[in-house]
Amino acid sequence: MKCKTCGGKAVVNMRQHNLALCKEHYLEWIPAQTARFIKKYWMFGPDEKILVAVSGGKDSLSLWDILHKLGYTADGLYIGLGIDGGFGYSKESHRLAKKFADDNGLTLHVVDMEETYSFNIPVLSEISARGHGKPCSVCGMAKRHEMNRIANQLGYDVLATGHNLDDEAAVLFGNTLTWSKDYLLRQKPVLDGHDGLARKVKPLCRFYEKEMTAYAMLRGIEYIYDECPFSVGSTSIYYKELLNQLENERPGAKLSFYLNFLDARDKGLFAGDVEKEEIPLHICPTCSQPTMYEGKCSFCRMIEKARGLNE
Ligand code: AMP
Ligand code: FES
Ligand code: ZN
Ligand code: ZN
Repeated sequence: MKCKTCGGKAVVNMRQHNLALCKEHYLEWIPAQTARFIKKYWMFGPDEKILVAVSGGKDSLSLWDILHKLGYTADGLYIGLGIDGGFGYSKESHRLAKKFADDNGLTLHVVDMEETYSFNIPVLSEISARGHGKPCSVCGMAKRHEMNRIANQLGYDVLATGHNLDDEAAVLFGNTLTWSKDYLLRQKPVLDGHDGLARKVKPLCRFYEKEMTAYAMLRGIEYIYDECPFSVGSTSIYYKELLNQLENERPGAKLSFYLNFLDARDKGLFAGDVEKEEIPLHICPTCSQPTMYEGKCSFCRMIEKARGLNE
């Protein structure tokens, strides 16, 4: 297999794009494509201050690497969730996020849930009615709360996450199975910020997961291979497997599923439906962040309940 650009030996063959590239040209192609997506979806401009949420995984570390390579000002945020899973999942992911920052002279902000709020995610999920022993929903809420809090407090213009095409296609598949219109309306590469909600962007949303794995490996980025131990058996992993079966038979199916959805929505698939963005109607009296309902936000209510139970 030959590199389409230089004719040298290709190391990556992307059937979905009918494109094979050598290491050098692959490592150029990914950032160039990312720059194209950033412009196409109006994610941010060259002078904006970006906060990248880094989990220590391949996607978010690669995203940080790419933004840095493209010349953007991008700092990192790592949220210590306190998940062990028998192999020190959070500790190891923190170590790798920190190593990447140190090796590249980048700034990493760290928020540790237990240090900041006295409880880690597994404990909060035991206490909270949301948890039911499965911490993922509590964890998602806590991450969203902390990402927004830090982006606001430290004055960042935009918050970037490492969601890739496989993540987005799996969410889309789930929301399509139930025709959850409100979620479908909101599933975008860019969510505009307003009134204390930071703008959120997903610059990697058009890259296959395996494309990001190849990028991280070829760039020599050290990342955590293990998934979060609580994700085992999750619905989203099941949807990803289903979509991979489809992709194997029909290369490009996953990408066109996602892109045709974005296109159909832009052309008015849900015309007439009022877009229910996360309109922040109220301000939480405890943390001053926007919330959907009057009174304390659900994150602050959860922390308060945990404290009450521990007194
Ligand atoms: P996940 O929800 O684990 O698939 O992660 C999606 C994205 O959320 C990642 O690509 C990161 O940008 C961000 N993220 C996940 N976990 C963390 C964390 N512990 N700290 C900071 N950002 C995170
Ligand atoms: Fe949050 Fe797994 S429960 S990353
Ligand atoms: Zn080449
Ligand atoms: Zn609050």
